Amino acid sequence: MRTCLIAGNWKMNLTPTESTALARTLRQRIGMRTDVEIVLCPPFVSLPAVADVIRGSEMKLGAQNVFWQDSGAYTGQISPPMLVAVGCEYVILGHSETRGRFGTPDPNLTDDLLRYFSENEATLNRKLRAVLPHGLKPILCVGETLEERQQGQTEAVIYRQLDGALEGFDADELFDLVIAYEPVWAIGTGQVCEAEEADRICRLIRAHIRERFTDELSAFVRVLYGGSVKASNAHALLHQPDIDGVLVGGASLNAEEFEQISYCAGSR
Ligand code: PGA
Repeated sequence: MRTCLIAGNWKMNLTPTESTALARTLRQRIGMRTDVEIVLCPPFVSLPAVADVIRGSEMKLGAQNVFWQDSGAYTGQISPPMLVAVGCEYVILGHSETRGRFGTPDPNLTDDLLRYFSENEATLNRKLRAVLPHGLKPILCVGETLEERQQGQTEAVIYRQLDGALEGFDADELFDLVIAYEPVWAIGTGQVCEAEEADRICRLIRAHIRERFTDELSAFVRVLYGGSVKASNAHALLHQPDIDGVLVGGASLNAEEFEQISYCAGSR
């Protein structure tokens, strides 16, 4: 039985004071839910404040990224033990925004964005290797751009991203892994992927895990959908057999909306 996971990716929004306020409201409304697992992923600087608010509740804390070394001369980076020390249980890895795969690229900015945020399969593989021994559960994001979808490359792109990031792992190392299918064209665009299509891709991801690893792992790993999830479309998505939860961006900044999404969780 896979517990439905509802994760809020607050991205680069909310100061620590604002994060505290949102976390307090969420704690009051949905903090003691045990039928779904609720994970809040605020910016790094808000992690300690949100950890304080949710301590003693059922909600979990997640970070939006991490570096693969434990410590050292890596200015501006945050390590796995640092995340554990502030109470993180989850960490988002390979989000399309950190891979430099923005939904509607601005032709004047694309090169810069790619240069600044150039996560790739090799760096993700290192990050997975680094976080798992610390007990951090990775939420590994995969997904195709609109151009790749139009060229019929959706499956190939996702398999390449999975294979690259998971290279060299054995099944027994991956039981904490969560995978999020996040089509780049659906992120922050308001253009949600149809529930049946999202379910089809999530099923392919699970089948790929079965092929590459074991039946047991593929039955255990949770596969989420992310991309313009709102209260109005969450019910259809969360009642698909192969969608085990959602990774919510914009709508997770609104307590009412996020609460409603959490109540859409189906059984699986
Ligand atoms: P969105 O973002 O819900 O704002 O589309 C989802 C995500 O990037 O994880």
